[in-house]
Amino acid sequence: MTLVAPPHQLLLAELHASLADPAMTSMNLLNEISIRYPEAVSFAAGRPAEQFFELDAVHRHLDRYVDHLRTERGLSEEAARRQVLQYGRTKGIIHELIAAHLAVDEGIEVPAESVVVTVGCQEGMFLVLRALRRGPEDVVLAVSPTYVGLTGAALLADLPVRPVADGPDGLDLADLRRQIAAARAEGLRPRALYLVPDVANPSGASLPLELRRELLALAAEEDFLVLEDNPYCVFAGEERLPSLKALDTGRRVVHLGSFAKTALPGARVGYVVADQLVADGAGGTVLLADLLGMVKSMTTVNTSPIAQAVIGGALLEHGLSLRAANAEVAALYRRNLALVLDGLARRFPPGGGVSWNEPRGGFFLVLTVPCTVDDALLELSASRYGVIWTPMSHFYPGEGGERQLRLSVSQVDPATVDRGLDGLAALLADRSRAARS
Ligand SMILES: Cc1ncc(COP(=O)(O)O)c(C=O)c1O
Repeated sequence: MTLVAPPHQLLLAELHASLADPAMTSMNLLNEISIRYPEAVSFAAGRPAEQFFELDAVHRHLDRYVDHLRTERGLSEEAARRQVLQYGRTKGIIHELIAAHLAVDEGIEVPAESVVVTVGCQEGMFLVLRALRRGPEDVVLAVSPTYVGLTGAALLADLPVRPVADGPDGLDLADLRRQIAAARAEGLRPRALYLVPDVANPSGASLPLELRRELLALAAEEDFLVLEDNPYCVFAGEERLPSLKALDTGRRVVHLGSFAKTALPGARVGYVVADQLVADGAGGTVLLADLLGMVKSMTTVNTSPIAQAVIGGALLEHGLSLRAANAEVAALYRRNLALVLDGLARRFPPGGGVSWNEPRGGFFLVLTVPCTVDDALLELSASRYGVIWTPMSHFYPGEGGERQLRLSVSQVDPATVDRGLDGLAALLADRSRAARS
């Protein structure tokens, strides 16, 4: 007789603390609800519109990039093949194209050596946070509500996140000063402030120009870095505001970029611009980007050169400008936002207890409602009212957002938007009735 040993079991409580943190599963919840209620109209996904996805473009871009290697960079057939198919440079192979693109589109002038090409912006966040965390006294400040990817990356890097209020302009500078002072009074070291300055995820807020300047002045005065995450800046409306990195004369800003919204999410290509100098303690300096490259070499080795080639080809095809390349899809997002804002105005008259912000563009807006918004209400909304959205409480590291929900407009279908908003209006009306009775 053979004895079968019971399967070995591990204890969640003995694995990395992040694995038991609810922040790590909030995205799963949304996916799960979308799968369980496929008929529901979704204002939840923060994904780009798919109308313009084109498989043929992948081949075309790849060819364009390889052609660029041969003709403009003078590589032999064999060297070009190696560049795209072999393991590659840790900091990436399209860093020069990205640096040139940032100069064309964003007025950001940085040496190509300060660009690290990453597996999406998400990897970039992790690399930076990992590098900034020396010990238990280190913390990162984040404008709250905060993109969940930052919260998750900070958990993985064992770097506590301290929230800073957003206020009506996307950043409450007085609260930032207070939080820095409070952290220092506790013996902590605030290393950086994370924020999304243009049409933020999740709030839709954009920082006015003067506030951008004041933030940079404060970063110099109080000696912290600014982690600027700007995946939606191309969709931030007609009036263009300079990114923090474009205004940064003191190398205070680490700029995180993504091609997921402006080129192809499936390529999983993003980047970090880290032109900060790091003193090595022996009289020399090293570029922060090179140190991030060291972390990357032990995380993902290098970003797929095939994926980089596709993005590189897309940049070349559009003369290095993704603003121009995205004009059509940007118009689609503007139309969707206008449809949703108009639909809200028709259903929720002023003074009725439901209000919302009117972002300059982007994917997201926030609705404030007179009832508690939680996962149970989302489940009810999906199952009975046929509409899905995101509870804002998911974006607060601590308390906050209990009466707010995020609506995403990026994948709104004009044919179903009214049905979705009708469902939302019915849900909120039933909640108000239930509260009164
Ligand atoms: C603010 C923000 N940063 C970063 C990302 C992730 O970018 P990537 O897909 O390049 O990892 C997203 C995606 O939704 C986002 O909203």
